[in-house]
Amino acid sequence: MKVVAFNGSPKKEGNTYHAIKMVEEELKQEGIAVEIIHVGDKAIRGCLACNACARNKNGKCIIDNDEVNIWIQKMREADGILLGSPVYYSAIAGTMKSFLDRAFYVANDGSLRHKVGAAVVAVRRSGGVTTFNQLNNYINYAEMLMPSTNYWNVIHGTAPGEAIEDEEGKQIMRILGKNMAWLMKLVNNGKKTIKEPEREGKIFTNFIR
Ligand SMILES: Cc1cc2nc3c(=O)[nH]c(=O)nc-3n(C[C@H](O)[C@H](O)[C@H](O)COP(=O)(O)O)c2cc1C
Repeated sequence: MKVVAFNGSPKKEGNTYHAIKMVEEELKQEGIAVEIIHVGDKAIRGCLACNACARNKNGKCIIDNDEVNIWIQKMREADGILLGSPVYYSAIAGTMKSFLDRAFYVANDGSLRHKVGAAVVAVRRSGGVTTFNQLNNYINYAEMLMPSTNYWNVIHGTAPGEAIEDEEGKQIMRILGKNMAWLMKLVNNGKKTIKEPEREGKIFTNFIR
């Protein structure tokens, strides 16, 4: 089994990276491979809301001069997805948000459904939980399955590497990694014996009609 992890920080080995590595360590101990993709240092423009992905039905974003389509394919092939972002103004860092909006809009075809998905966040002081909730919105919308830990998935630090000194944060990531590995195994084994619920077509009401 494999997890693809996305690091939304522009810093290659900042605190978000360390949070991902803490989860990765537990996953690897359980025999799950992890690929970390560095999103935050790339030039990723935001969604154009052109709906070409829905019209063309080719599983691709029409913007094809960056790596988003490659990463979407990696998400489809993985058994689990880990989303990591630093907190910027109590929110997901901009480049990561641009990637997530496009990737999850394109992959809104059931291809991520019932994969295991989790989010981690690195923050200096405040805004960790709002950012964690924002990342979870993508996981929820895709009907993915989410493992938990013993607190919200937030680690504290400012300068790169400071997160390693956050003992409680480290435990949060460690437990998340263990629970994620276990859930992935449950899903993998369970699918062989327990029938998945049928996917329902989306009802759009726009609150009017
Ligand atoms: C543009 C910007 C905005 C930030 N906004 C916040 C914030 O709202 N709250 C906070 O506690 N820290 C904030 N920070 C600090 C980072 O969240 C913190 O340093 C984090 O550990 C960075 O993770 P990284 O090393 O993975 O990039 C901000 C940093 C930057 C560069």
